[in-house]
Amino acid sequence: MIKPLRSVAVAILAFQAVFALVLCLAHYARGYSEQLEIVTQMAGGDYAARQYPRFRQNPALTASHLVPSIAFILIGATQLSKRSRLAYPKVHRWLGRLFALTTVVISITGILISIVLNYTGVSEIVPSLVFGTLSIVSVILGVRRARQKHFVAHREWMLRAYAVALGIVTARLALFGFTSLTGEPASEFFGTIFWLGSGSNLLGVEVWINLTRAKPRPLGKVTSSLANAG
Ligand code: HEM
Repeated sequence: MIKPLRSVAVAILAFQAVFALVLCLAHYARGYSEQLEIVTQMAGGDYAARQYPRFRQNPALTASHLVPSIAFILIGATQLSKRSRLAYPKVHRWLGRLFALTTVVISITGILISIVLNYTGVSEIVPSLVFGTLSIVSVILGVRRARQKHFVAHREWMLRAYAVALGIVTARLALFGFTSLTGEPASEFFGTIFWLGSGSNLLGVEVWINLTRAKPRPLGKVTSSLANAG
């Protein structure tokens, strides 16, 4: 039961990670008019005309969000690999610290962008504050649990931090669905897609965590292994 589910979860995660990378790198691709054409297809003409150009007009703020986001995606994907964790525990610890730092940076710059380059007012700021804070709290708890050698809880908090931030992908897909189905401008749905994106990712990761949480060994097995040891 868990094995086929694991393949589905890995496929969803890989898709989201690749899509998120493309979203970031697209800002630095050549051919701005082609970029605008794709953004118009993906998010409608209002977003392409009023919001997307503001990222180009504010390169420092945009880069302070997108460059650490790229590092966050790549490090997160590497850290999830059990093989690399077991083979290189020292590397896992260092990359874990870097992952925590990038999570804090992308969350703070994401919240800043929602205020400085605001597109739809409070409806954009509130979910950014909620999910940005949630990402930071998750990663801080993840690091603390690792230090306390509570690795079950460490894994769970790090998964939450990764999934909440990757909610950007679900949000963008929802925006594409809403704008293309209704023909309404992106501003109509902007708040909704943030809640939907990170909210559904959070729900998905909670299901996954509960399905795969390491169970405590039954008492019978513990006492028999103790007896064998003695
Ligand atoms: C994997 C992590 C993340 C990635 C890859 C990412 C990527 C991006 C990209 C590519 C944009 C530019 C929007 C566009 O291309 O149309 C953006 C904007 C934004 N991000 Fe992030 N982001 C991430 C995490 C976060 C987090 C945790 C927050 C929460 C605070 C956040 C809040 C925002 C906001 C509010 C905007 C402006 C939205 C807009 O006007 O389009 N991001 N992000």
